[in-house]
Amino acid sequence: MTRPVCWAATVAASLALLGCTAPTPAEPPWVAQARGVAAAVPPKLLNVLRDEIDRGGPEGAIEVCREQAPKMAKAASEQSGWSVRRVSLRNRNPKAVPDAWERAALESFDRRAAAREPATQLELADTVQENGQRVQRYIRALPVAELCVSCHGQPQDLKPAVSAKLKALYPDDHGVGYRVGDIRGAITLRRPVP
Ligand code: HEC
Repeated sequence: MTRPVCWAATVAASLALLGCTAPTPAEPPWVAQARGVAAAVPPKLLNVLRDEIDRGGPEGAIEVCREQAPKMAKAASEQSGWSVRRVSLRNRNPKAVPDAWERAALESFDRRAAAREPATQLELADTVQENGQRVQRYIRALPVAELCVSCHGQPQDLKPAVSAKLKALYPDDHGVGYRVGDIRGAITLRRPVP
């Protein structure tokens, strides 16, 4: 079971303040749809990454991640009608900078992971007002697994060939220094309320 999303928590908290007990409000159907889109992309990327690492080591897989990850996000966007991308508080791709809503979500994920919530279940969904438009937003944490540390781990633990390639492609790389279980970033979806 996934965690209740934030408005549910807010409504439940307000009701509790009023002295009422009420069941958690039902989740709007678009949240499950967004969750499905967000859940489909990372395993696909992981499979490609695994194959490439087996074939050419992590240094050989860097280019694949660089090309395939944005391509897969674009394909998911075109198929689903949601705009899909990856972001991080310590981004590698210079474009993977979170906006204010995503930053607040990522910071809350770090706090929740520190409080021992399972990182694989960290998500938030909300409908927000942006530039006069109502927008649906969904974000899900991407935790660091064993495989990830070959390219996102402690700088001194990276293979020299990996460090050299990352330095060449991402001179301003902040995406290193992670341990298994940390939150590396998130997959994030948005669309105007249909
Ligand atoms: C073979 C090396 C490699 C491995 C293994 C790898 N990554 Fe990455 N990762 C990259 C590269 C390269 C980028 C930048 C891609 C781009 O240019 O969009 C990246 C970017 C990301 C981003 C987007 C945000 C940013 O900082 O640009 C996230 C999130 C991410 N990786 C998570 C993971 C997770 C989680 C794993 C393990 C499941 C993982 N990565 C494994 C190389 C790797």
